[in-house]
Amino acid sequence: MGGAANVAATINDVVDHAASDPRTRRSFEDVNLQRIKSSLAVLICELSGGGCKYTEDSMRDVHAGLRITQAEFYSLVQIYRDALVRHGIRLRERNELLALLAPMKRDIVEK
Ligand code: HEM
Repeated sequence: MGGAANVAATINDVVDHAASDPRTRRSFEDVNLQRIKSSLAVLICELSGGGCKYTEDSMRDVHAGLRITQAEFYSLVQIYRDALVRHGIRLRERNELLALLAPMKRDIVEK
């Protein structure tokens, strides 16, 4: 994944884009983006085998009440994919990472 610094830079990019992209920004209006960036960095570090331990609330609890739709979820995945490309992560690693995030949909999207 290009090391911790690249993971952090990629995550900053994802969160900044998600908070300004018309497809996803409505959920981010009154939230502390810095907090999301640091939590997400730990979560991704753990998922990608970087030796971290994510100890914040579950994905279900964190996103409860935000009424995130499936379309918003897929838009965020697209934003993430684009950021990984910009940060030089290769196809194989991109797909591995996104495959780890995909199953979280059931905890994040509200039916
Ligand atoms: C696999 C996809 C996703 C992952 C891994 C993820 C991960 C996270 C993490 C780690 C946090 C911070 C938890 C904390 O410390 O408070 C968070 C918060 C948040 N996420 Fe996500 N998220 C995902 C999808 C989405 C989507 C699709 C949206 C909206 C389009 C979204 C909107 C938010 C918002 C608004 C917060 C802040 C909640 C608050 O502070 O009240 N997330 N997410």
